[in-house]
Amino acid sequence: MTQSSACCGGKGGDVTVDLAKVDGIIDKYGRDRAGILGMFQDIQREYRYLPKDAVAHVCRTLGVPLAKGYEVATFFKALSLKPRGKYTIQVCLGTACHLKGGPNVIEQFERELSVKTGDTTADKKFTLESVNCLGACALAPLVRVDEKDFGKTTPGTVKKVVKAF
Ligand code: FES
Repeated sequence: MTQSSACCGGKGGDVTVDLAKVDGIIDKYGRDRAGILGMFQDIQREYRYLPKDAVAHVCRTLGVPLAKGYEVATFFKALSLKPRGKYTIQVCLGTACHLKGGPNVIEQFERELSVKTGDTTADKKFTLESVNCLGACALAPLVRVDEKDFGKTTPGTVKKVVKAF
């Protein structure tokens, strides 16, 4: 096996990666390069994002060039190389939500949380994202926090949504 853990030195908010745990995930996929996406998804489930040390370890173990690993990690939108918050706030900016004021809602979230869209709050509680149609246009503008939907939102309801978590 390998060394037990690795860390980037704390830069960029990265966590210390338990390489034994990552090895377990690699083993689960038979140490097969074809399983790299599944490995990354499992690692993300573990850490809520894909730590760079884990990407490097998977690539090293599988003999995959690091650049290739990053290509996979950045191609799939569901994977994040940046630490994520405990909760993900998705503000829909699809056509219906856009027309009914979605942009004002997301701007209010940015102000309320002091964070830019795509980023995570300093306390790692929330990640703010914009998304395209969430499939419930009758509720526009729609905000989804993990599994919970908030319909017909306005800038005025943003505080309420944040408080609910
Ligand atoms: S456009 Fe927002 S849910 Fe469809």
